Amino acid sequence: RPKLAVFASGTGTNLAALIQATQTGEVPAEIVRVVVDRRHTGAQQLAETAGIPVLRINYKDYATRELAEDAMLTVLASDGVVGILLAGYMRILTPKLVNAFHQRIINIHPALLPSFPGNSAIADAWQAGVKVTGVTIHYVDDGVDSGEIIAQEAVKLTATDDLAQLTTKIHAVEHTLYPATVAMLIKKGVFVK
Ligand code: GAR
Repeated sequence: RPKLAVFASGTGTNLAALIQATQTGEVPAEIVRVVVDRRHTGAQQLAETAGIPVLRINYKDYATRELAEDAMLTVLASDGVVGILLAGYMRILTPKLVNAFHQRIINIHPALLPSFPGNSAIADAWQAGVKVTGVTIHYVDDGVDSGEIIAQEAVKLTATDDLAQLTTKIHAVEHTLYPATVAMLIKKGVFVK
Protein backbone atom coordinates (compact mmCIF):
# COMPACT_ATOMS: atom_id res chain seq x y z
CA ARG A 1 0.00 0.00 0.00
CA PRO A 2 1.52 3.35 -1.08
CA LYS A 3 2.37 5.80 1.68
CA LEU A 4 0.69 9.15 1.11
CA ALA A 5 0.75 12.57 2.76
CA VAL A 6 -2.26 14.88 2.91
CA PHE A 7 -1.72 18.66 3.01
CA ALA A 8 -4.56 20.72 4.50
CA SER A 9 -5.15 24.25 5.78
CA GLY A 10 -8.69 24.17 7.06
CA THR A 11 -11.61 22.21 8.40
CA GLY A 12 -10.35 18.95 6.97
CA THR A 13 -13.58 17.36 5.77
CA ASN A 14 -11.79 16.03 2.68
CA LEU A 15 -9.01 14.71 4.90
CA ALA A 16 -11.68 12.96 6.96
CA ALA A 17 -13.17 11.38 3.83
CA LEU A 18 -9.73 10.19 2.71
CA ILE A 19 -8.86 8.76 6.13
CA GLN A 20 -12.17 6.92 6.22
CA ALA A 21 -11.60 5.53 2.72
CA THR A 22 -8.21 4.14 3.76
CA GLN A 23 -9.86 2.52 6.77
CA THR A 24 -12.63 0.85 4.75
CA GLY A 25 -10.13 -0.22 2.11
CA GLU A 26 -11.75 1.80 -0.71
CA VAL A 27 -8.41 3.61 -0.95
CA PRO A 28 -5.69 0.96 -0.54
CA ALA A 29 -3.09 3.39 0.79
CA GLU A 30 -1.67 4.50 4.09
CA ILE A 31 -1.84 8.16 5.10
CA VAL A 32 1.40 8.43 7.05
CA ARG A 33 1.63 12.22 7.41
CA VAL A 34 -0.61 15.26 7.49
CA VAL A 35 1.02 18.61 6.73
CA VAL A 36 -0.68 21.80 7.90
CA ASP A 37 0.43 25.41 7.50
CA ARG A 38 -1.40 27.04 10.39
CA ARG A 39 -2.32 26.49 14.02
CA HIS A 40 -5.56 25.10 15.39
CA THR A 41 -6.96 23.59 12.20
CA GLY A 42 -9.70 21.01 12.11
CA ALA A 43 -7.38 19.04 9.86
CA GLN A 44 -4.70 18.79 12.56
CA GLN A 45 -7.31 17.73 15.11
CA LEU A 46 -8.65 15.02 12.79
CA ALA A 47 -5.16 13.71 12.07
CA GLU A 48 -4.31 13.53 15.76
CA THR A 49 -7.55 11.71 16.52
CA ALA A 50 -6.72 9.21 13.77
CA GLY A 51 -3.18 8.78 15.12
CA ILE A 52 -1.53 10.25 12.01
CA PRO A 53 1.64 12.28 12.64
CA VAL A 54 1.29 15.98 11.84
CA LEU A 55 3.95 18.32 10.50
CA ARG A 56 3.04 21.97 11.01
CA ILE A 57 5.05 24.30 8.85
CA ASN A 58 4.98 27.96 9.78
CA TYR A 59 6.09 29.58 6.50
CA LYS A 60 7.08 32.72 8.42
CA ASP A 61 9.87 30.72 10.06
CA TYR A 62 11.57 30.35 6.66
CA ALA A 63 13.16 33.01 4.47
CA THR A 64 11.68 31.50 1.31
CA ARG A 65 8.92 29.05 0.35
CA GLU A 66 11.64 26.76 -1.03
CA LEU A 67 13.27 26.55 2.40
CA ALA A 68 9.91 25.72 3.98
CA GLU A 69 9.48 23.00 1.36
CA ASP A 70 12.99 21.67 2.07
CA ALA A 71 11.87 21.07 5.65
CA MET A 72 8.80 19.22 4.36
CA LEU A 73 10.82 17.17 1.88
CA THR A 74 13.13 15.96 4.65
CA VAL A 75 10.19 14.70 6.71
CA LEU A 76 8.33 13.24 3.71
CA ALA A 77 11.46 11.36 2.66
CA SER A 78 11.98 9.86 6.09
CA ASP A 79 8.26 8.91 6.14
CA GLY A 80 8.71 7.12 2.81
CA VAL A 81 5.92 9.18 1.22
CA VAL A 82 5.39 8.49 -2.51
CA GLY A 83 2.49 10.84 -3.21
CA ILE A 84 0.82 13.99 -1.89
CA LEU A 85 -2.90 14.79 -1.76
CA LEU A 86 -3.79 18.45 -1.34
CA ALA A 87 -7.08 18.79 0.52
CA GLY A 88 -7.90 22.44 1.00
CA TYR A 89 -4.24 23.46 1.11
CA MET A 90 -4.33 27.19 0.51
CA ARG A 91 -0.76 27.70 -0.67
CA ILE A 92 0.98 27.47 -4.02
CA LEU A 93 3.78 24.92 -4.19
CA THR A 94 7.07 25.92 -5.80
CA PRO A 95 8.83 23.91 -8.53
CA LYS A 96 11.06 22.52 -5.79
CA LEU A 97 8.30 20.36 -4.25
CA VAL A 98 6.39 19.90 -7.52
CA ASN A 99 9.47 18.48 -9.26
CA ALA A 100 10.42 16.29 -6.30
CA PHE A 101 6.97 14.64 -6.61
CA HIS A 102 6.50 15.03 -10.37
CA GLN A 103 2.92 13.97 -11.35
CA ARG A 104 2.47 12.51 -7.86
CA ILE A 105 0.77 15.55 -6.28
CA ILE A 106 -3.02 15.73 -6.64
CA ASN A 107 -5.38 18.58 -5.77
CA ILE A 108 -9.12 18.90 -5.33
CA HIS A 109 -10.76 22.12 -6.46
CA PRO A 110 -14.40 23.11 -5.82
CA ALA A 111 -15.24 24.25 -9.38
CA LEU A 112 -15.00 23.00 -12.95
CA LEU A 113 -11.50 24.14 -13.88
CA PRO A 114 -10.32 26.05 -15.83
CA SER A 115 -13.29 28.11 -14.62
CA PHE A 116 -13.00 29.74 -11.21
CA PRO A 117 -9.45 28.99 -10.04
CA GLY A 118 -8.28 30.42 -6.72
CA ASN A 119 -9.35 30.21 -3.12
CA SER A 120 -13.00 31.33 -3.33
CA ALA A 121 -14.20 29.18 -6.23
CA ILE A 122 -17.63 28.21 -4.86
CA ALA A 123 -18.58 31.81 -4.10
CA ASP A 124 -17.09 33.03 -7.40
CA ALA A 125 -19.16 30.53 -9.40
CA TRP A 126 -22.30 31.37 -7.43
CA GLN A 127 -21.81 35.10 -7.95
CA ALA A 128 -21.25 34.56 -11.67
CA GLY A 129 -24.71 33.01 -11.83
CA VAL A 130 -23.64 29.73 -13.44
CA LYS A 131 -26.25 26.98 -13.68
CA VAL A 132 -23.66 24.21 -13.49
CA THR A 133 -20.44 24.10 -11.51
CA GLY A 134 -18.71 21.17 -9.86
CA VAL A 135 -15.52 19.60 -8.59
CA THR A 136 -12.17 18.99 -10.28
CA ILE A 137 -9.34 16.65 -9.33
CA HIS A 138 -6.08 17.52 -11.07
CA TYR A 139 -2.34 17.00 -11.05
CA VAL A 140 -0.49 19.88 -9.42
CA ASP A 141 2.02 21.95 -11.31
CA ASP A 142 3.60 25.20 -10.14
CA GLY A 143 0.71 27.36 -11.40
CA VAL A 144 -2.56 28.18 -9.67
CA ASP A 145 -5.02 25.31 -10.21
CA SER A 146 -3.50 24.75 -13.66
CA GLY A 147 -2.30 21.13 -13.79
CA GLU A 148 -3.68 18.36 -15.99
CA ILE A 149 -7.29 17.43 -15.14
CA ILE A 150 -7.87 13.87 -13.90
CA ALA A 151 -11.58 13.83 -13.01
CA GLN A 152 -14.54 16.19 -12.84
CA GLU A 153 -18.08 15.93 -11.58
CA ALA A 154 -20.80 18.46 -12.31
CA VAL A 155 -23.13 19.99 -9.72
CA LYS A 156 -26.34 21.63 -10.96
CA LEU A 157 -27.81 24.66 -9.25
CA THR A 158 -31.53 24.84 -8.73
CA ALA A 159 -33.36 28.17 -8.93
CA THR A 160 -33.53 28.31 -5.14
CA ASP A 161 -29.99 27.27 -4.22
CA ASP A 162 -28.24 29.85 -2.10
CA LEU A 163 -24.50 29.92 -1.55
CA ALA A 164 -24.74 27.76 1.58
CA GLN A 165 -26.77 25.09 -0.23
CA LEU A 166 -24.37 25.10 -3.17
CA THR A 167 -21.44 24.75 -0.78
CA THR A 168 -23.06 21.74 0.87
CA LYS A 169 -23.67 20.09 -2.52
CA ILE A 170 -20.09 20.72 -3.68
CA HIS A 171 -18.63 19.27 -0.49
CA ALA A 172 -20.81 16.16 -0.74
CA VAL A 173 -19.47 15.53 -4.25
CA GLU A 174 -15.90 16.18 -3.10
CA HIS A 175 -16.13 13.60 -0.33
CA THR A 176 -16.95 10.80 -2.78
CA LEU A 177 -15.02 11.96 -5.86
CA TYR A 178 -11.67 12.44 -4.10
CA PRO A 179 -11.42 8.94 -2.57
CA ALA A 180 -12.73 7.33 -5.78
CA THR A 181 -10.18 9.18 -7.89
CA VAL A 182 -7.28 8.39 -5.56
CA ALA A 183 -8.30 4.72 -5.63
CA MET A 184 -8.26 4.83 -9.44
CA LEU A 185 -4.81 6.46 -9.49
CA ILE A 186 -3.42 3.83 -7.11
CA LYS A 187 -4.79 1.11 -9.41
CA LYS A 188 -3.03 2.83 -12.34
CA GLY A 189 0.25 2.73 -10.41
CA VAL A 190 0.69 6.52 -10.21
CA PHE A 191 2.05 6.49 -6.67
CA VAL A 192 5.39 4.76 -6.97
CA LYS A 193 8.82 6.27 -6.48
C1 GAR B 1 -12.53 22.18 -0.27
O1 GAR B 1 -13.79 22.58 -0.77
C2 GAR B 1 -11.48 22.24 -1.35
O2 GAR B 1 -11.96 21.87 -2.61
C3 GAR B 1 -11.10 23.69 -1.31
O3 GAR B 1 -11.04 23.99 0.06
C4 GAR B 1 -12.04 23.23 0.75
C5 GAR B 1 -11.41 22.59 1.96
O4 GAR B 1 -12.38 22.00 2.78
N1 GAR B 1 -9.85 23.95 -1.97
C6 GAR B 1 -9.58 25.08 -2.62
O5 GAR B 1 -10.35 26.01 -2.71
C7 GAR B 1 -8.21 25.12 -3.25
N2 GAR B 1 -8.05 26.29 -4.07
P1 GAR B 1 -11.97 20.93 3.88
O6 GAR B 1 -10.86 21.54 4.73
O7 GAR B 1 -13.21 20.71 4.67
O8 GAR B 1 -11.52 19.69 3.15
